[in-house]
Amino acid sequence: MATRYQHDVLVIGSGAAGLSLALRLPGNCRIALLSKADLNQGSTYWAQGGMAAVLHNRDTVDSHVADTIAAGAGLCRRDAVEFTVRNSKRCVEWLVKQGVDFDLREDGASSKHREFHLTMEGGHSHRRIIHAADRTGRAISEVLTERAAAAENIEIFTHRMAVDLITADGRCQGAYILDQRSGHVDLFQASAVVLATGGASKAYLYTSNPDGASGDGIAMAWRAGCRVSNLEFNQFHPTCLYHPRAKSFLVTEAIRGEGGRLLLPDGERFMQNFDERGELAPRDVVARAIDHEMKRLGADCVFLDISHKSSDFLRSHFPTVMARCEELGIDISSEPIPVVPAAHYTCGGIVVDSNSHTDVPGLYAVGESSCTGLHGANRMASNSLLECIVYAESAAQHITTALDVTPPPSAAALWDESQVTDSDEDVVISHNWDELRRFMWDYVGIVRTNKRLERALHRVQLLQSEIAEYYGNYKVSNDLLELRNLAMVAELMIRCAISRKESRGLHYTLDYPQLLPTAKDTVLQP
Ligand code: FAD
Ligand code: SIN
Repeated sequence: MATRYQHDVLVIGSGAAGLSLALRLPGNCRIALLSKADLNQGSTYWAQGGMAAVLHNRDTVDSHVADTIAAGAGLCRRDAVEFTVRNSKRCVEWLVKQGVDFDLREDGASSKHREFHLTMEGGHSHRRIIHAADRTGRAISEVLTERAAAAENIEIFTHRMAVDLITADGRCQGAYILDQRSGHVDLFQASAVVLATGGASKAYLYTSNPDGASGDGIAMAWRAGCRVSNLEFNQFHPTCLYHPRAKSFLVTEAIRGEGGRLLLPDGERFMQNFDERGELAPRDVVARAIDHEMKRLGADCVFLDISHKSSDFLRSHFPTVMARCEELGIDISSEPIPVVPAAHYTCGGIVVDSNSHTDVPGLYAVGESSCTGLHGANRMASNSLLECIVYAESAAQHITTALDVTPPPSAAALWDESQVTDSDEDVVISHNWDELRRFMWDYVGIVRTNKRLERALHRVQLLQSEIAEYYGNYKVSNDLLELRNLAMVAELMIRCAISRKESRGLHYTLDYPQLLPTAKDTVLQP
């Protein structure tokens, strides 16, 4: 039997955004925190390099702001960038207070003043990436999960998949949630609902993201009437491990920050031919250069060489990368790592204001599912975790104030599945998944053309009509819901890409290779 639940706040997602938001709300606020798999299965847990923040005494807010805006190729919203960077140090302090153990400097400075080890990544003009070796996301995720589990006001539900939002009286009042264990769709009502559901890089055949990155929150918000923006800017990380047994494994940019060099198969260095910042140019530039060289040479991959560093250094700074490579027979202290670009981060998303409030009253979006204006046309490395923590705080403040004046949700109907049956054709779902991800990779990848985008639009619309029929006739399942969401977000990505008649940041098209003089967001209205 389907169940009704009632809370003050429903937080959908248990990554850095969802967990920190739940922990920032006052203790008398009754919260439901949902995850569609285990709590640690979002992108947060896998984050390697770290979190950018102005911590060094020679670094400045102005410098971090300028670097972010330069990487964003003219499309960042200055107020969003300033807001995020100004709050960066305080947010690091909050994480440390929760118990996150970031690496300290190894040269003894830490014994006098607690000084963090800061690493370097593409686009940054200073060392400003605070980290826990190359498993920063795991360190954050474990601590915040432990805190949330210990909080009496937070009720945690795992393996619960949000299907759709409920709007009534002009505001969001909850969501229908599939309990993956019982198969029932339950009703969760709340005065405020937060989408902290992560990105949509699973739309691409090759991705650094875990399986759940299917853009559920973006699709749900769109169906509920929210605008989305800048979805043509899906970021490709330049260096994912290339190996037949390595699915979705990232090789952190911090390796290039510590002097790692990109090499062609014959051992020649090439990044200096594309950008004077070489390996530390922003990601869009590096990924495009690798793509260019691979196509030019017909090569399967390029190589990342950090073998000039000692084994001890590599083991202490990059234990995750080293161990994974060792499992595959690659000794990174003596040989280069085979790498290729892969879809990594959704820079666009649900349009929100500085409180992470969407167009629908009572509905918030935080973290990778949102579009705050921070990233513009290309996110600078390690600004994502920062955005999650900063905007979780402002959203929590806004929700706390709004709760005082928001009436409880009105009566809502239970999910009706009287007209549907069990599916007898699940193979259709997996075929559609494969087809979608392959044509997105082929036609909406690092280099685009009008023709490729039109082909992709045609295919995604056909797929969507098949999926709609399936959705209307059969009981919902995790795979069907993810496919429905991913196909919808893929269509939004393609429509954004088609409407941009220039090449900017991550969107590069052979038909419009130039930059237009005025930078404009792509905004889609439902
Ligand atoms: P996520 O952490 O992805 O969490 C999403 C949550 O939503 C999950 O709990 C999921 O179960 C839940 N969810 C989704 N849909 C539903 C649904 N329908 N119903 C219920 N629950 C749902 N960024 C940095 O700043 N620094 C880094 O070093 C860095 N390294 C990275 C390395 C890798 C391999 C990857 C993949 C990303 C990296 N990023 C990094 C990006 C960063 O990790 C993510 O952008 C960020 O963690 C997103 O956090 P989030 O809370 O928005 O979403
Ligand atoms: C990495 O460690 O290279 C990922 C950093 C990021 O995505 O910000």
